[in-house]
Amino acid sequence: PTRSTFIPITLTLPLFRNCLTPTNGLISSKTSHLLLVVDSSLVSEAVPVIDLNDPNALQLIGHACRSWGVFQVINHGIPTSILHQTESTAKTLFSLPLEQKLKASRSPDAVSGYGLARISPFFSKLMWYEGFTVFGSPLDHFRQLWPRDYTKHCDVIEEYEKEMKKLAAKLAWLMLGSLGITKEDVDWAGPNGDFADASSASQLNYYPACPDPDKAMGLAAHTDSTILTILYQNSISGLQVMKEGVGWVTVPPIPGGLVVNVGDLLHILSNGLYPSVLHRAMVNRTKHRISIACLYGPPANVQISPLPKLVSPSQPPLYRAITWSEYLGTKAKYFNKALSIISSPQ
Ligand code: SIN
Ligand code: FE2
Repeated sequence: PTRSTFIPITLTLPLFRNCLTPTNGLISSKTSHLLLVVDSSLVSEAVPVIDLNDPNALQLIGHACRSWGVFQVINHGIPTSILHQTESTAKTLFSLPLEQKLKASRSPDAVSGYGLARISPFFSKLMWYEGFTVFGSPLDHFRQLWPRDYTKHCDVIEEYEKEMKKLAAKLAWLMLGSLGITKEDVDWAGPNGDFADASSASQLNYYPACPDPDKAMGLAAHTDSTILTILYQNSISGLQVMKEGVGWVTVPPIPGGLVVNVGDLLHILSNGLYPSVLHRAMVNRTKHRISIACLYGPPANVQISPLPKLVSPSQPPLYRAITWSEYLGTKAKYFNKALSIISSPQ
């Protein structure tokens, strides 16, 4: 072509997704005589990255929760060394011989242990995935995996959990705070408002390199049954989130960054204002991928329902009250339809 061409952004954007940064609203290439004018609103095609030291963090988090249901945080206060040590424990675990890993298998009704994706009962195809869930003490399983040096790995996981729980409580207040919710509004937050009785689990995820990645799925699309999930991903990308009107968007690993997902229970608490994010994990042809999730929720038997402050005659409660354990049962039966199953009759 000899003249510049203006191309409708909606058609061309996927091609240029990797070229977009918050500063380059305009991309032009002299060599191809192609001029692409990008409206600045489309820059929001990237999952927001929020600096927790930013004085506007509360507003930014509120906006991200409302429009994406997910964001990344930096300057979150978790020492990188703890994340790297946990990744290294995960790597050591998944590199063990299969027969060794199977000694720590998750039994059918248990949460903890080694095994397939926990969402696998809902899919006919196997996912390209191995996982290990820690709920409560990892001691018994870790003794099976590493009869000689299990204490070292237990210490790593315990340190990781301690730090993650602190961060999760802070994030929970930022997310709720951005809705105008204060400590008085959440009776199960405990006398200091520090969610001392919150439940959490650690999920170690491993996606081996896959010779034909287009034919396999690491983890199929799902929402988390949590209040929030904090995800560490190593330098290999694979996580994708569903953005309404756009489709699947890759969440690139950023050094030191952590991904924060809105889970189904925050969706309920917020009366649908903060939608839980649908996400999935892709696999890589040549590289193994590890991710580590902190699944954070209320004490198991506390009733969760739309917060009274967010309910009014014009905004009736969308969901009925439910405990986390009941919700997990509903999810185990109806999977991604669980939220609509517990919606209140209008
Ligand atoms: C998850 O959804 O639990 C993990 C997603 C990922 O590995 O990126
Ligand atoms: Fe998930």
